[in-house]
Amino acid sequence: MRSLWLSVLFSVACGSSHKPAPEPEPAGAHEPAADPAPAAEPAPAAEPEPAAEPDRPVAGGDQLWTELSRKQKQSHMKNVVVPAMQEHWAEFNPDKYRKITCLLCHGDGVLDGNFVMPSPELPRLDFGEGWKVFAADHAAILAFMKDTVSPGMAELLGKAPYSETNPRGFGCMNCHMAAQK
Ligand code: HEC
Ligand code: HEC
Repeated sequence: MRSLWLSVLFSVACGSSHKPAPEPEPAGAHEPAADPAPAAEPAPAAEPEPAAEPDRPVAGGDQLWTELSRKQKQSHMKNVVVPAMQEHWAEFNPDKYRKITCLLCHGDGVLDGNFVMPSPELPRLDFGEGWKVFAADHAAILAFMKDTVSPGMAELLGKAPYSETNPRGFGCMNCHMAAQK
C-alpha cells in the first residue's frame, strides 16, 4: 500500500519537474485506483469486472474537472465547492464547522500554495483489522462522510462517485490517505 502511494507521488513529482514550483497535475494520478478499500465497508473479495462510469463536465461549464486550469479549479473551489460544503458541515456540527475554509480539507499546505489531494494532513484511514471498532466509535462522522461528503463532493466536481461497481469513482481516498503500514 505504502509503496503504491509513494510511486504515485513519485510519478506526480516527475510529471511536473519541468515547472519551477512543485505543482503536481491531478490527471488521474489522484484516482484511488490503486487502493483496494476506498469504501467504509470493505468490499467483498469476489467482484464482477467493474464498468467504470465516466465523469461529467463540472457544473456550469463544458470541461471535466481534470481539464480545468489550476486557476479555474481554485475559483470553482472558492465559489462553488466551499459554499455548498459549508452548508453540509454546519448542519452536521454547527459549533465545530461554523466556518470552513480551504484548510479543512487541504491542511496547512494551503499556506504554501499546496492543494494536492489526498491530503497527508487528514486522518489516515485504516480499513484493516481495527476498522470495525473504529467505525463503531466514529459512526456519526462516518455516516456523514459516506452519505454526504463523499457523494456531495463527487457531484460538485462532476466526478462519478465511488461504488462497488465503480471502484475508480470519487470516494474516501480522494481526500484521505491510507494508514501507513
Ligand atoms: C470539503 C473539502 C474541500 C475544501 C473545503 C476545499 N477543497 Fe480544494 N479540493 C478538494 C478535493 C477533494 C480536491 C481533489 C479533487 C480531485 O480528486 O482531483 C481538491 C482539489 C483542489 C485543487 C486542485 C489541486 C490539484 O493539485 O489538482 C485546488 C487548486 C483546490 N482544491 C483549491 C481549493 C481552495 C482554494 C479552497 C478554499 C477556497 C479549497 N480547495 C477548499 C476538497 C476541498
Ligand atoms: C471531500 C473530502 C473528504 C472525503 C471524500 C471524505 N472525507 Fe473523511 N474527512 C474529511 C475531512 C476534512 C475530515 C476532518 C474534519 C476535521 O478536521 O474536523 C474528515 C474526517 C473523517 C473521519 C474522522 C476521523 C477522526 O479521527 O475523527 C473519518 C472516520 C472519515 N473522515 C472517514 C471517511 C470515509 C470512510 C470516507 C469515505 C466514505 C471519507 N471520510 C470521505 C474529508 C473527506
